[in-house]
Amino acid sequence: MQVQRVAVGQFRRFEQGQWSPASGINLLVGDNGIGKTSYLEALHLISYGRSFRGRVRDGLIRQGQAALEVFVHWSEQTGQGIEHRGGLRHAGQDWTARLDGEDVAQLGQLCAALAVVTFEPGSHILISGGSEPRRRFLDWGLFHVEPGFTPLWRRYSRALKQRNALLKQGASRHALAAWDQELAQVGEPLTAARTQYLSRMQDKLVPLAATLAPGLEVRGLDFHPGWRRQEMPLADALLLAQERDRQQGFTSVGPHRADWTVLYSALSGREVLSRGQAKLTALACLLAQAADFAQERGQWPVLCLDDLGSELDRHHQGRILDFLQATQAQVLVTATEVPPAFVGRPVSVFHVEHDGEVLPGGGTTGEGGAGHAGIIGA
Ligand SMILES: Nc1ncnc2c1ncn2[C@@H]1O[C@H](COP(=O)(O)OP(=O)(O)O)[C@@H](O)[C@H]1O
Ligand SMILES: [Mg+2]
Repeated sequence: MQVQRVAVGQFRRFEQGQWSPASGINLLVGDNGIGKTSYLEALHLISYGRSFRGRVRDGLIRQGQAALEVFVHWSEQTGQGIEHRGGLRHAGQDWTARLDGEDVAQLGQLCAALAVVTFEPGSHILISGGSEPRRRFLDWGLFHVEPGFTPLWRRYSRALKQRNALLKQGASRHALAAWDQELAQVGEPLTAARTQYLSRMQDKLVPLAATLAPGLEVRGLDFHPGWRRQEMPLADALLLAQERDRQQGFTSVGPHRADWTVLYSALSGREVLSRGQAKLTALACLLAQAADFAQERGQWPVLCLDDLGSELDRHHQGRILDFLQATQAQVLVTATEVPPAFVGRPVSVFHVEHDGEVLPGGGTTGEGGAGHAGIIGA
């Protein structure tokens, strides 16, 4: 997928702003606080329904304004020249959205249409944080490549909510039985899909990590389904946990407790990882996921890499750029200045102005005109 234009209104510090990135690798430069990350955040918002920097009402809407607006025009890379236009107006609680001229009833419709993979300064939590971002990672991939997954996921979430509500009310075993059955019936295929997806992800991740970050010695991924699946079906695990669940008032086993870990040859576990190693691992996982999307969907998601230059050393940046240059992916990178690893590569450089407008320039040389890739000079 390729973003042709992204426009924002009342977004962070911008009253108005727009950017038309090129294909291939784009570098968005500008001073601290000028709004580089805001552009990636706007794309992320359309694609996930949320920001990676907190809630919409916590500063995403420009101060003193009622709502923000994001508009994105993008094209598919599947060869049929399909184009899309998506818009979102978000007031913190309420939102309205449109996709290709039609009103959108669920934000998920917009999220399904535009696929963005984001790597940002907080991305290390995918590896070193709690299990929720790792479940979200899994489910994001399945949402985009397995059409049957989302209905299962919705059914499971609804049943879980009902069961937890009953547990809190101290409901009888009899009342719980129907929901246990529903959870087991949906939770098994949901877990089978996750298992299969993660195994495919492992096949992508291991060679990719060996190329991008050989020092990590990533040897695989380990899936934890959320109950002792080797020993019993989910139905039995739920029954076994029922007494404890009634005391605690929530469901303690099941796919909502699933997790996965990265296995390293040289390191013993994530507790010994440095922040930099966690970041590199996270990026390798995100790129493996993007590569899987590309294989399954026939086109790459848009790759947003916020502050790449300050997040990774130049050797790793170089390896990552080597990899990205060889793909069809549109890549949007932000930086305060052109990082040394970008010098001598075909990159389209853009500059954020104070009024939010993004202009081409900032060090390109070569054939290309405005917004076209040139080789960055030293
Ligand atoms: N987490 C945040 N919450 C609220 N405002 C923020 C946050 N992060 C940045 N901002 C504000 O958004 C504006 C644009 O910042 P940002 O997009 O982060 O710029 P850049 O990436 O160029 O440094 C700034 O005025 C900044 O104060
Ligand atoms: Mg930034």
